[in-house]
Amino acid sequence: MLDPYKLRKDFQMFRNKTQMQEHDLVFLDNASTTFKPDCVVEAVDQYLLNETSNTHRGDYDLCYNADVKVENARKSISKFIGANENEIVFTSGTSMSINLIAYGYAGKYLTSEDEILITQAEHASNVLPWFKVHEITGCKIDYIPLDKDGRLSPVSVEKAITKNTKIIAVAQVTNVLGFVIDVKEICKIAHKHGVLVVCDGAQSVPHMNVNVKDLDVDFLSFSGHKVCGPTGIGVLYGKYELLEKMDPLMSGGGMNAKFDMCGDVKYLNPPSKFEAGTMNIEGIYGLKAAVEYVDKIGRNNIAEYETHLRKYMIKKMREVPNIIIYNENADAGIITFNVKGVFAQDLATYLNSKGIAIRSGQHCAKILITFLHEVATCRASIYFYTTKEDIDAFVDALKKGGDYLDAYFA
Ligand code: ALA
Repeated sequence: MLDPYKLRKDFQMFRNKTQMQEHDLVFLDNASTTFKPDCVVEAVDQYLLNETSNTHRGDYDLCYNADVKVENARKSISKFIGANENEIVFTSGTSMSINLIAYGYAGKYLTSEDEILITQAEHASNVLPWFKVHEITGCKIDYIPLDKDGRLSPVSVEKAITKNTKIIAVAQVTNVLGFVIDVKEICKIAHKHGVLVVCDGAQSVPHMNVNVKDLDVDFLSFSGHKVCGPTGIGVLYGKYELLEKMDPLMSGGGMNAKFDMCGDVKYLNPPSKFEAGTMNIEGIYGLKAAVEYVDKIGRNNIAEYETHLRKYMIKKMREVPNIIIYNENADAGIITFNVKGVFAQDLATYLNSKGIAIRSGQHCAKILITFLHEVATCRASIYFYTTKEDIDAFVDALKKGGDYLDAYFA
């Protein structure tokens, strides 16, 4: 089993001692973002301090160096998810990646006859771009039913597909309920019906092994900052033949082969076609370091550790009077809960006063409230550096909430 105490030494955020509390900061908002190890900070610094140059635009050594580093990063990232290098597009994150598919593929090829299937558990970034496609093309958006716990089964997917379905867009791990869905089986079913699968990997890629070729998924996106990388950098994977058919979302420098006064334009081949403008080069340096760091720990080890810690967390949280846990049977290190009679944000504010960071509200999954029948929930989410002591401090604070939260004993 991995050793979170040893790994924490790699993070300045853990070496910083926030001495306002009896314990160090307890960070349980890892589904939102993750801390950055020294190697990521050093990689970003290396570019900013020693290697600053644009890419693909210069005939001097410094520029060549940055070109090579960016393409090496693409290589590392392609290995990280089992893709080919030319199928990795650098974006600003999952939201941009899905927007790219929505505008560049769905907006181009779908018509008012067509249908896109999503679920009620999707994050805004996997809902709103599809609403835009509906606005543009008139296509229908429908929801694949979840089971009573909130899990998406391949059987429901198969039942929901109609002759008009063209795209299924689902998160491999949902950001509030934390179920891991069977993407491989869903792809098999979808492809049998000629339907493409767009997978939001923001909450899965950092925590479990994901191999796009094995899944046979058509598109997959993830964000750098949720996998110990910098913010503002992310990835879109697409099967090369789909990337070739797609339009770019942005045009400009670095993505065209030629253009003339008559408006004749020839784009570069993917992935460059989708990377207009100067890229987030330091972000790319940082993301390379991040995926290599996480790969060294091993995502099988991360998944095993998180499963173990999740069980411990559920057991401890059950000791808290009046607690409601919404996803006891889920898989990922995401636990969504409330304390009866206490507004979620009040609970999060109280926990903050005890040096514990969680997220409260609707977690960008605003349709899910119609499934959970709650306007707001609290969410605690772990990563490989979360310790049992973090969980103990969190549960201890929940148990002591009565002195602050009037409603607690109601
Ligand atoms: N997508 C992030 C979350 O779920 C921000 O918290």
